[in-house]
Amino acid sequence: MKKLLLLTLVLTLNVMALTPEAEKGKLAISACLACHNAELTPAKAPPFYGVQNKYKQAFSEKQMFILAISDWAKNPTIENSLMKRPIKKLGLMPAMPLPDDMLAQIGAYLYEEDFEPPCTHWANDLKKASGSQSQGKGMGRGKGQGGKGHGKGMGQGGNHDAMIRMKYNQLCK
Ligand code: HEC
Repeated sequence: MKKLLLLTLVLTLNVMALTPEAEKGKLAISACLACHNAELTPAKAPPFYGVQNKYKQAFSEKQMFILAISDWAKNPTIENSLMKRPIKKLGLMPAMPLPDDMLAQIGAYLYEEDFEPPCTHWANDLKKASGSQSQGKGMGRGKGQGGKGHGKGMGQGGNHDAMIRMKYNQLCK
């Protein structure tokens, strides 16, 4: 039991403390927050909470993660994108060719920070999903139905909305 407490404590401290590199990134990232501010309505870019998730899934190793973020910022292309959905909604991100060391710091910060769940952003997404497209509802429920074969696009949209709703209910209420 004591061990468990200690482990929890160590993990917690670990999550909170940023490396000096990431501390610099935390300042430099203001250049990105003009768009990646999770509170903006309407959104101008996906919040870093989701970006971090996506990139950690693809690049769990820190140096690879940092490289991927730097490469992306210097040269965003559809082929290199891991987040196709935001491109459809918001267009491709413009290049942000900052100096390499600054991009590495930003990458380190994006890797280390424990971002707040983007509740405003999710709430807006859910409002849109239930309002404008009548698709939204049917799809959310019809997971079983649309699972195979027809309506792949719809099925995915429904899963996406359902996933956001689940995360919103879990983390924002
Ligand atoms: C002018 C607005 C704007 C600025 C400034 C901006 N971004 Fe973005 N970013 C976007 C948009 C829009 C998307 C979603 C579309 C896309 O992926 O291209 C995006 C997506 C991303 C993604 C996900 C890319 C993918 O699809 O795999 C990363 C990573 C990212 N931005 C990093 C950054 C970093 C780092 C900075 C600062 C150096 C930055 N952005 C500055 C608008 C911006």
